[in-house]
Amino acid sequence: MSSRTLTGSVIGLDAQLVEVEANHWMGQYKFHVVGLPDAMVQEARERVKSALRQSRLPYPHGHMVVNLAPADLRKGGTLYDLPIAIALHAATRGGGMQDLDQTLLAGELALDGSLRPITGALSLAALARDRGLQSIILPEANAAEAALIPGITVRGATSLAQVAAYLRGEIDIPVTPTRKLTVEHVEKTPDADFSCIRGQEHAKRALEIAAGGGHNVLMQGPPGSGKTLLARCFPSILPPLEPSEMLEVTRVWSVAGALGSDGLVTDRPFRSPHHTASGVSLVGGGTFPRPGEISLAHRGVLFLDEFPEFGRSVLENLRQPLEDGTVTVSRIQQTVKFPARFMLLAAMNPCPCGYATDPGRTCTCSPLHVSNYRKRLSGPLLDRIDLLIEVPKVPTEKLLALEPGEPSSAIRERVIRARDIQKTRAQETGVLTNGELSGEMIRTHIRPKEDAKTLLEHAVNRFQLSGRAYFRILKVARTIADLAGVETVEVEHVAEALQYRQVIE
Ligand SMILES: Nc1ncnc2c1ncn2[C@@H]1O[C@H](COP(=O)(O)OP(=O)(O)OP(=O)(O)O)[C@@H](O)[C@H]1O
Ligand SMILES: [Mg+2]
Ligand SMILES: [Zn+2]
Repeated sequence: MSSRTLTGSVIGLDAQLVEVEANHWMGQYKFHVVGLPDAMVQEARERVKSALRQSRLPYPHGHMVVNLAPADLRKGGTLYDLPIAIALHAATRGGGMQDLDQTLLAGELALDGSLRPITGALSLAALARDRGLQSIILPEANAAEAALIPGITVRGATSLAQVAAYLRGEIDIPVTPTRKLTVEHVEKTPDADFSCIRGQEHAKRALEIAAGGGHNVLMQGPPGSGKTLLARCFPSILPPLEPSEMLEVTRVWSVAGALGSDGLVTDRPFRSPHHTASGVSLVGGGTFPRPGEISLAHRGVLFLDEFPEFGRSVLENLRQPLEDGTVTVSRIQQTVKFPARFMLLAAMNPCPCGYATDPGRTCTCSPLHVSNYRKRLSGPLLDRIDLLIEVPKVPTEKLLALEPGEPSSAIRERVIRARDIQKTRAQETGVLTNGELSGEMIRTHIRPKEDAKTLLEHAVNRFQLSGRAYFRILKVARTIADLAGVETVEVEHVAEALQYRQVIE
C-alpha cells in the first residue's frame, strides 16, 4: 500500500513543494529513502523508526521505500521527519487519513516522538498558501512565525502521536490565529543612551545623519576614545521597523534559525560579529545556503568593530551587498539570493598601536606597519563608506566636567521625521531611505541647487573622487537637507557632506 504527504524544501528564502511517497511490501526488512536526500535526511530513517515505535504507532514490516519528489531537487535538513513518518503510518493503515493532500507537514522528530523546531517555517507557510493548500502542521515552537502568513490555517503540534491522531480524525489540534503586524512598538529602554557620551559632538552629528538616511560609517580614533560606546548607543536613535520590514527581516531570521520564541523580529537588527568570523558566517553559504550576518542585519546595522582585523577577503565580500542590498550565494547545485540591505558601521584605530592621531601619545608603529594595516581596507571598500569620522579622545577633565548630552529620544525624533520625508518622496519606488536610492532615482529625487552642484563637482575633481563617491555624497547631502526639513539641496548641505569624506587617505 502506498500513500503520499506534502512538505516543502526551503531554498534561499523561498520554499518548493515536495511530495513524500511511502510504499511498503512484504519481504525482508529494508528502509530506503530516495530522491536526492542528504546525510541528514538519510538519518531521518532512524528518527522516524524510533518515533513511530515510541508513539505506539504500527510500524510497517518488510520493505519500505520513501520517495521525495521532484527527484532532481536536493533535500536537506530535518523537516522531512514528520511527513515521512505520517506517510509511512498512512501506508501501514491503508488510508483513512484526512486531508493529506491539503496539508503541508514539516517537523523534526526526537527519538521519543516529540516534535522539534525547524528553520524556514515562515517560508513553508507562504508556500502552502501560494499553492492553495488548506493548512500547515508544524512544531508548536514554529506556529507563531507561520501564523504571520494570512490565508492559511496553522496548527502547532507537540508530537507525532498527536499529529497522527488528528489526521485520523480522532482529536483536534488548536489553530494558531493569524497574527496582525502593527506599528505598535514595544518601547524598550535601550542599554546605552547618547546622553551618556560626553563631547564627541562631531561624531554624534555624523551618526545622526547616518541614521537619518541609512548611510555607511567608519569611525577612526585612538583606544578608549568611545568608538565602541558610540556604536552601542547607535540603535537607540534608529526608527522602529515598519511592519513590512518586520516580515522581511523575520523571514531571513526564520531561515537562519535565529528567531526567538516570539517568532517575530520587532527591533531593528544590530549585529556585531567578531573579527574572527568566517566568510560563510558573515556573508552566508553552506551546502544548503543559509543567510549570514550581513543578511541577519538586513534593515538594520552591521557593526564591525576593529574593522581592519577582519580578513581582507571577508571584507571584499561586502562590496556587492553594500552596493545593491542583496547577496548571491553560489553552491554547486544552486545559486540563491538573500537580502542584505544593512547599514555598515565600522570602527578602527588609525594604526596598529592605536595612537597615530593622539596628540598626547607617541605612535610606535613603523610607516610600513601603518601602511600594511591600512591596506587591509581596499579602495573600493572605502569608496562605499559615506561618512568617515574622526573620534578623538575627550580629555579626562572634560569627561568629568561636561554636562550630559542630548538624549537619544530627541535625536531619534529628528531621524524619524527625516525618514518620513524620504519615504513620501520615493513613495512610488518603495525605497525607504536616501541610502537606498540608485542611479535614475538619484537624478529624479535629489535636485541640488546649481551652486551646490558646482561645489560638489569642484570637490570631486580636486580630490579625484569616483563617480560612486559623487552620488554617495549627493545622497548624504540629501539626508542633511531632510534633517533640516529643507526641500532643495543647498550649498551648505553639500559642504557638510563633503566634510565626512576626507579623513582617511
Ligand atoms: N566621550 C566619552 N563619554 C563618556 N564615556 C567615555 C567617552 N569616551 C570614552 N568613554 C569611556 O571609555 C570607555 C572606553 O570606550 P570605548 O570602548 O568605546 O573605546 P574605543 O574607542 O572603542 O577604544 P578601542 O579603540 O580600544 O576599542 C567607555 O566604555 C566609556 O566608559
Ligand atoms: Mg572599541
Ligand atoms: Zn601607531
